[in-house]
Amino acid sequence: MHTFGRKPVEFVRGEGMRLWDDEGKEYLDFLSGIGVISLGHCHPALVEALDRQTAKLIHVSNYYYIEGRGELAKKLSDLLNARSEEADPEPWQTFFANSGAEANECAIKLARLYARRQQEAVGSTARPQVIIVLERSFHGRTQATLSATAQQVKQEAFQPLPDQKLFVATPSNDVEALEKLFAERGAEVAGMLLEPVQGECGVYPCSDDFLKAARRLCTEHGALLMVDEVQCGMYRCGTYPFAFQHAGIMPDVVTMAKGIAGGVPMGACSAPAHVAAVFEPGIHGSTFGGSCLAIAAANTVLDTVVAEGIAENVTETGAYLREKLATLPQVVEVRGKGLMVAVDLAEGLDANAIVLAALEAGLVLNATGPHTLRFLPPLVCAREDVDALIERLAALL
Ligand SMILES: Cc1ncc(COP(=O)(O)O)c(C=O)c1O
Repeated sequence: MHTFGRKPVEFVRGEGMRLWDDEGKEYLDFLSGIGVISLGHCHPALVEALDRQTAKLIHVSNYYYIEGRGELAKKLSDLLNARSEEADPEPWQTFFANSGAEANECAIKLARLYARRQQEAVGSTARPQVIIVLERSFHGRTQATLSATAQQVKQEAFQPLPDQKLFVATPSNDVEALEKLFAERGAEVAGMLLEPVQGECGVYPCSDDFLKAARRLCTEHGALLMVDEVQCGMYRCGTYPFAFQHAGIMPDVVTMAKGIAGGVPMGACSAPAHVAAVFEPGIHGSTFGGSCLAIAAANTVLDTVVAEGIAENVTETGAYLREKLATLPQVVEVRGKGLMVAVDLAEGLDANAIVLAALEAGLVLNATGPHTLRFLPPLVCAREDVDALIERLAALL
């Protein structure tokens, strides 16, 4: 089905920052499969791990233990607690799914069930179900995650969406509006779901103050603070494993996908053990989620990211990319963190036309709107790649 505005190219091979099409033409990739190919295309460690796992065991189902899955969950727990101020922080537990939307579905169900169990524990019949989301958010394309995606253009064709009244949108970075919303509807709220850096709408970071206020208000009202790190997580923003860690807050639920397994489909929803405990056997599931191949891939991606010092590269190259983009006279604004960057172009420049022209010039780019270009290169992107991008982009603009 023709659900994507497809470009006239078929890529057949990749290595690091580079792709080749079926006619042998070479491209520099500044999209990485929409923020997925964290280690660069066909990183030898990932290829080797997948070859090894494929020859050994591909899938068995979640009825059984899966080799490496406990270790992966432990690694994620340690990464999520990386900035915890507690000496012995509570461990996190993870449900493995296959995509970002599924990870968020899991989070929404978890928050509603957690709220219900809290009420039951005090003999109350109240059932808080409302999830607060941010305007311009993007959380996926399933029915519930589309209800959570506060963008009229994406929801329009499917109105009325199920449960839509249970997702209430508030403007990002507006602490006063959030305080007012909690004051009015706090008793109905099961959780708040937000992207610390909003991606699909054009890369808009939440301010640290706003994230701290969200944390405080969720705690005050007994709601779970859920952060969607599907795009901005897994070192995409540099320095720390997760974007929320830049603000020094601790959420209650974290969802991930995209870069976590370097291109093998995987979603993950993590929560501290006391929250995760409301999910008992039979209450949620997935045939493929956390299968042998995806687990082998994710373990390799995480180990390689640490071993190769990729977080430092993201911080340094990301800063260089933003600095260089700002020198282009047709760029009116540069936003982002690490290697999650967008620019707004001057009036009269059509971002979609530039993406097509860039392909001709051997450059893979992405537009999130008529005047906005987004850059999500592999996390191994180097200064020379940025130089090549800027040279070609300057000529195109
Ligand atoms: C922040 C965020 N959440 C969720 C999703 C949905 O992920 P998926 O396409 O893997 O379902 C995306 C995809 O772009 C995303 O950027």
